[in-house]
Amino acid sequence: MNETQELLLIGPFSQLLTMDQLPLKGAIKDEQLIIIPNAGILINGNTISEIGIFDDLKKSRNPNTSVYEIGENTVALPGFIDAHTHICFGGSRANDFAARNGGKSYQEIAAAGGGIWSTVNHTRQYAEADLTDAMTGRIHAMLKQGITTIEVKSGYGLNTENEIKMLRAIKSANEKTPADLIATCLAAHIIPKDFNGGEREYLDYILREILPVIKEDKLCNRFDIFIEENAFSTDHSSRYLQALKDHGMELTVHGDQFTTGGSKVAVECGALSVDHLEVSTEKEIDLIAKSNTIATALPGASLGLGCAFTPCRKLLDAGASLAIASDWNPGSAPMGQLLTQAAILSSFEKLSMAEVFAGITFRAARALNLKDRGIIRPGLKADITMFETPNCKEILYQQGSMKVSHCMKNGVMLF
Ligand code: NIG
Ligand code: FE
Repeated sequence: MNETQELLLIGPFSQLLTMDQLPLKGAIKDEQLIIIPNAGILINGNTISEIGIFDDLKKSRNPNTSVYEIGENTVALPGFIDAHTHICFGGSRANDFAARNGGKSYQEIAAAGGGIWSTVNHTRQYAEADLTDAMTGRIHAMLKQGITTIEVKSGYGLNTENEIKMLRAIKSANEKTPADLIATCLAAHIIPKDFNGGEREYLDYILREILPVIKEDKLCNRFDIFIEENAFSTDHSSRYLQALKDHGMELTVHGDQFTTGGSKVAVECGALSVDHLEVSTEKEIDLIAKSNTIATALPGASLGLGCAFTPCRKLLDAGASLAIASDWNPGSAPMGQLLTQAAILSSFEKLSMAEVFAGITFRAARALNLKDRGIIRPGLKADITMFETPNCKEILYQQGSMKVSHCMKNGVMLF
């Protein structure tokens, strides 16, 4: 270790949940968790340098080490990762929510001019800087929840000018906030009502017009598509995803939300994740479990739409890897409270605490192809989320009402 470098020792933690040495796929029992009592974490710049017993690390520290003593009874976990959001948007869909609860379906509302298209109309009216500002507020709300890495999709622009505007807004929000934002192009959200052509023509338009600008300006290296009736069919989606793969893009899919079909396309294209899966049956579960594609549950969308939860227990028992994300968006998932949603999901789907924390740490990292975070281990990013409690089981038990006491991002204590 370089003697002149500034080191920081934090602790003592009553429990340090490293989330290390756990399987990427399948069920996890709480007994498999490594929980270090009286723990300390030594940080070198933005990286974890050592973990161990706080008093030992304190005694053996070198003179350049500052010590940040945390109050007694604090639990430390890897910074949370929300692997699926649509937080770049303008406007509100409170009217859609009321209409749904008045008996109209998500698809009926969309067909009547509400739904995704109404958010497109609002988002198109926002200047890039205003979108960045709107997002910044949401990002700070997420940092307060201990979420230090956030995937953000475009998909409310649906033409070159506005999709690129959204991706640029995401890029500047990434520069202006401490969170790491991972941008994904969701130009294939729906076929825009003002596009002159069908599904094939619109997907070709994205490949021909939007993709080159994204590549040129390095705006993102991930693409998503909504495979669904009234969005994109499996055949056209396969062709589109394959073309993107040939361009070196990473893939993720909105699949099996209202009808099945999307998950099969996702697995066949080698997508990093397939998200939603509320209507997946044994057949789809089996296919996903045999693949390396992460299943991402979005309990916020089930709560927002009043639909069934993703069959998480079955997916895990079949051997799939499960991430849990908020899907924060103005339509189906307006809540934006990942921990609350994950805790509620765990009660309905009978998930262990270990499976829930895995879903918002290292398994979520894998859904984003990030290998440098999601675990508290020397050499990985110093992203750490802390709760003032002696017992980690209190966190999910309190269903999100226990607030994060401290949050460190890239070695910097944010609060
Ligand atoms: O993940 N299912 C499609 N897309 C989003 C909803 C977006 C919206 O309603 O604005 C979702 O639920
Ligand atoms: Fe979504």
